[in-house]
Amino acid sequence: MTSEPSVSLEFFQGQRALVFDQIDSTNEEALRLIRAGRGEDGLWLLAKSQTSGRGRLGREWLSEGGNFFASVLVKSEIPRARAPEFSFTAALAVAKALDRIVGDAGLITLKWPNDILLNGNKVSGILVESETRRGGAENWLVVGIGINITGAPEGVRFPATHLQSIINENINNIKLLEELSQAWKEVMERLYKEGFEVIKEAWLKRAAGLGKTICAKVGEDDFEGIFEGLGAGGALVLALADGTRKEILSGEILELKL
Ligand code: BTN
Repeated sequence: MTSEPSVSLEFFQGQRALVFDQIDSTNEEALRLIRAGRGEDGLWLLAKSQTSGRGRLGREWLSEGGNFFASVLVKSEIPRARAPEFSFTAALAVAKALDRIVGDAGLITLKWPNDILLNGNKVSGILVESETRRGGAENWLVVGIGINITGAPEGVRFPATHLQSIINENINNIKLLEELSQAWKEVMERLYKEGFEVIKEAWLKRAAGLGKTICAKVGEDDFEGIFEGLGAGGALVLALADGTRKEILSGEILELKL
């Protein structure tokens, strides 16, 4: 679906955003722009609704009006193998922005690899996709962010919630993008200047389930163990009951309160 943006806006430190009334997926539109040679580093795409919103692990992302759907394009200066660094960085940016919106830092925590929780329930998810151009000379990332403002899916394995469940006044998606674009600039600057270790420490400080027994799903298998920290490439490190250690690079945490 090609769609024309209805508005072009400017945010924190000259960041530009194109706003769409409806689009298939802001990630897909970002990839289309990059493939057409029209990608702009730092450009935000915001949609009021999506007809084919997608989530991690091949899932659909429910995208009816009222919630927040945006993607930011990143012309990456970091080697491709280190792309997971951006998903942890993005999760931190969303957490910072939501701290400001909910006004209570303790309410927002992070669930490996890049979900954001409000009171222990999923309020936001991130999907990072990559694209190379000019025979690998240009590496691009698209960081797609969905935030539940007015609605959350029901009957999902990990419980979901939305911001209006605790905030009475209306939350506007442009206001949310304003907060997010500022937090994004701040954490990206830290990533580039201070390196991933600093981001990782900040992420771990608000990681849900750290040091506790959790259950993680990898493909069809479930693993239960103590969440010890992050390994290389942002892997989830689990200490299993048999005394071995398992590093999970791709999967999800199913259960935090065992
Ligand atoms: C997840 O599965 O938790 C990640 C969800 C990411 C959803 C966002 S909404 C904006 C962007 N466009 C998409 O199609 N997906 C991402």
